[in-house]
Amino acid sequence: MSSVGEEVTPRLLDEYTQGFMVSQVLFAACELGVFDVLAEAREPLGSDAVAARLGSSPRGIELLLDTCASLKLLHVETGGGRALYKNTELSSTYLVRSSPRSQQNMLLYLGRTTYLCWAHLAQAVREGKNQYLNTFGVPSEELFTAIYRSEEERLQFMRGLQDVWSVQGRSVMTAFDLSPFPLVCDLGGCSGALAKECVSLYPGCQVTIFDVPQVVGTAKKHFPFPDGGRISFREGDFFKDPLPEADLYILARVLHDWTDESCSRLLRRIYQSCREGGGVLVIESLLDADGRGPLTTQLFSLNMLVQTEGQERTPAQYQALLATAGFRDVRCQRTRGIYGAVLARK
Ligand SMILES: C[S@@+](CC[C@H](N)C(=O)[O-])C[C@H]1O[C@@H](n2cnc3c(N)ncnc32)[C@H](O)[C@@H]1O
Repeated sequence: MSSVGEEVTPRLLDEYTQGFMVSQVLFAACELGVFDVLAEAREPLGSDAVAARLGSSPRGIELLLDTCASLKLLHVETGGGRALYKNTELSSTYLVRSSPRSQQNMLLYLGRTTYLCWAHLAQAVREGKNQYLNTFGVPSEELFTAIYRSEEERLQFMRGLQDVWSVQGRSVMTAFDLSPFPLVCDLGGCSGALAKECVSLYPGCQVTIFDVPQVVGTAKKHFPFPDGGRISFREGDFFKDPLPEADLYILARVLHDWTDESCSRLLRRIYQSCREGGGVLVIESLLDADGRGPLTTQLFSLNMLVQTEGQERTPAQYQALLATAGFRDVRCQRTRGIYGAVLARK
């Protein structure tokens, strides 16, 4: 039995309290290029060598590397009074910029933008709205004007969103057999990550990426597309402009940005443009039926509060939105990842 003098705060409370510091260790190590330098070196490096290559303070780097080692982001070998560091498999796969499954762009976006908005979480809960004004002094009446504060910010956001599909894109695009839909329109298709997955999985299909003009411009300039003419672009505002006719409309991480009212408006427009027998594929992080989990999706939902006008939803909530717009045969498929798919037919 412990006496009052030995009392410690519960481990769970400590973990939660320090959670933001752990995130920052990860973000800072990405920002500084720690994992990239260790990947390029091809042999374990001492902290002085890492500090020299990054032009950072030896003391700061040593503290950061040792903390990364405790977090299992780095291996450390000690011998002869020296510590040598190298990437773990987790870091080599997901944190090194040149890895095909790298999540580095998303982590940089989270560290540079999302993290700052989360400093205003309590205010977001009080006001029930996003925190672009409090965080960056940017009014958020035009949501995506606020989100895309600069060309650099837009590119970082687009690269970050793409990172997730480099790992989970295949599972969401195979959640249903999409081969009956030859003409696909990816609304809010951004950098084209899912469009590329779609044409590689379904040889007969063509995809139009529909997005706002700035995003289409950035996608064409900064992201590679396969030859063959099966992916094309259309610039426009999906709330106002005519939508391309298609057999299947993809809405990936689009509805979670908007209120129920805006979602219904968009889904009604899609229903009108959709070919008879066609459908809509909603790809989102799905809440459990009672809305009380999974925790990651609940955190994403709070993130939608802090950064957008929307929220994450349960399958039944998506079903209700789709049915109100006229869609039928609504089917939901969860995947092993955090994103699931909902397919509905016209
Ligand atoms: C959260 S991102 C999701 C991007 C992509 N579907 C994905 O899953 O990675 C939302 C996308 O919707 C686009 N978008 C927002 N408002 C739009 C509008 N009014 N018309 C067309 N696209 C819009 C954004 O530019 C952005 O590419």
